[in-house]
Amino acid sequence: MSRRRQRWVRWPDSMAIESARGPLGFGADYNPDQWGREVWDEDVRLMRRAGVNIVSLGIFSWARLQPAEDSWDFTWLDEVMDLLHAHGIAVDLATATASPPPWLGAQHPEILPVTRTGETMWPGARQHWRPTSPVFRQHALAVVEAIAGRYASHPALAAWHVSNELGCHNLYDYSDDAAAAFRVWLAERYGDLDVLNHAWGTAFWSQRYSDWDQVLPPRLTPTIPNPTHQLDFKRFSSDALKDYLRAERGVLDRLTPDVPVTTNFMVMSNFSGLDYADWAGEVDFVSNDHYATIDGRGLDELSFSANLTSGLAGGQPWFLMEHSTSAVNWRAINPPKADGALVRDSLTHVAHGADAVCFFQWRQSVSGAEKYHSAMVPHAGEDSEVYRTVVRLGGHLERLAPVVGSRRQRARVAILFDIESTWTLDLEANPSSSLSHREDALDWYAAFLALGVRADVLPVGAPLLGYDLVVAPLVHVMPAATADRLRDFVEGGGHLVTTYFSGIVDENNHVWPGGYPGALRELLGIRVEELAPLLDGQEVDLDDGSTGTRWTDRITATAPDTEILATYRTGLQAGRPAVTRRAVAGGSATYVSTRLGPEGLEPLVGRLLDAAGVDSELPGGLRGRVELTIRTDDEREFWFLVNRTDDAVDLRELGDVGEPVLFSSDGDPGHDALPGSGVAVFARSRR
Ligand code: GAL
Repeated sequence: MSRRRQRWVRWPDSMAIESARGPLGFGADYNPDQWGREVWDEDVRLMRRAGVNIVSLGIFSWARLQPAEDSWDFTWLDEVMDLLHAHGIAVDLATATASPPPWLGAQHPEILPVTRTGETMWPGARQHWRPTSPVFRQHALAVVEAIAGRYASHPALAAWHVSNELGCHNLYDYSDDAAAAFRVWLAERYGDLDVLNHAWGTAFWSQRYSDWDQVLPPRLTPTIPNPTHQLDFKRFSSDALKDYLRAERGVLDRLTPDVPVTTNFMVMSNFSGLDYADWAGEVDFVSNDHYATIDGRGLDELSFSANLTSGLAGGQPWFLMEHSTSAVNWRAINPPKADGALVRDSLTHVAHGADAVCFFQWRQSVSGAEKYHSAMVPHAGEDSEVYRTVVRLGGHLERLAPVVGSRRQRARVAILFDIESTWTLDLEANPSSSLSHREDALDWYAAFLALGVRADVLPVGAPLLGYDLVVAPLVHVMPAATADRLRDFVEGGGHLVTTYFSGIVDENNHVWPGGYPGALRELLGIRVEELAPLLDGQEVDLDDGSTGTRWTDRITATAPDTEILATYRTGLQAGRPAVTRRAVAGGSATYVSTRLGPEGLEPLVGRLLDAAGVDSELPGGLRGRVELTIRTDDEREFWFLVNRTDDAVDLRELGDVGEPVLFSSDGDPGHDALPGSGVAVFARSRR
């Protein structure tokens, strides 16, 4: 993957920025077109008071900017741009193409996406466009051209925001446009129809294609559709949207070569549609939107997603484009955030490398589908706890300016995240539909957090050099190249741990034959003949006191040096190995054949850390209660300590960790007691 030059937000000269690196960005999606002119002055007053320095503007403004095919209206946007600039607020200007105006859908219904079952997705919400529609592209690029041409030299313009959350609602389109583009994509991938027939295993169920025109998107079928066909459609859908991103970017690069381009990713628990490891090289800086879960694992998940976003950004700073000040509106029930969560969540993103903290949205709407979604200025107005907290957060971010530009300090542990395993496990006709790569990766992450050990979450293709312990949880899709990289890591002295149903298929979703886990069998020194998922609710006991769910394996140790770390005590595999480890040339390869869950993993993780010689950087009393992340630049390390509990924690045990930069509660930095949900940041010279 080639990477574009990394460029950060181009802060306007007029902002008289004190630090050479610029401030930490702070702001929101700003939708002034939803409000009367009189509200705008109030907006900028409140923005200034809160310390807002950047907003994303015009995301859903197409219908207002181009009310009909041959009529344009930029006057209001000119005024907003000037107003923001006059108040020292930079603009991350959207290309406004996320939601096409009604006239476009009416004139060109052929831009509308089609579902798997052949239904049209009509206008009336947003993102009702086909990523592969040439007609849509032509109209959308005309808008990009018009906006970029008009604002190319506007002094407030700091970055381009391409579309919005590409693929959020139109990821899978099964239209005829998609069919045509899918064929082109397949012809490029396979060259020859015979190669496609082999890759898709079309000898099965008489699916052999004799002409490219016979190939369709995986539309509704009488029964289980071909899995490799589906996997390729997911890859294609990610690439089709990436191609669209490139098309918009092409216009922007031509008209404003000096302005950085980004688009907001959705690295969060409920989205896994796009291959962001592949997309990251397409933007000047990575941006992410994150909405925390409310399932009891929210804090761990937030940290995991922020950590993975940093991994996608190669450890460089990234831009938190959206999160929420409080409730969202799109769950069945939408509770507000608890006291302290707003600041804690925002600063946890900063701890993981965010150099900008923005929200959806600035002012809470009074109409439309998102009127019950929280905002920086809620319905209650400035006299509200949310706005007061926003103002406090702005103050914290100002104090954190010294961290801007610092990158993540590599941990000694890495957890691999693999989008293709996520996609493949989500398909039908696997041995179990209860498996989740992301959930298992999160289990491991939570176990490291509980032990106070930093772990980097990395896309599976990231370099492993320098890590001591690498976890590859449920990495089901294992091309030979990945298996080779893992073997090289172990042979180079690294400690690898992998789990059930990993290493089973190649990139074509073909099983590695000869016994499981095919691609890793020799490295692990084990062999499994039959896959043995557990039913939902079924549990098995291990002799180390832990409990397994979801899966077991009947393991035979095949290498003389394969050790058994734990044995099944109950279930079909009672008396047989549950966890194995093989020492290899200074490193080791461990296999965990069941899902132990975060608590069940803790003792095992403790043993693995000991074997790899990795210790927590936190004193005993803080482990699990405080999350530690470290950012670094050439001179300093910044230690971020996030209190994960509701109770105060005593930081004295830490000893001297440097000069206090921030203490996110009332009072002076350097307090001994960090209150519940509090965040402290210290700076110290690099040793
Ligand atoms: C995002 C989207 C925003 C807003 C937000 C609500 O998906 O980009 O426009 O809809 O969710 O949570």
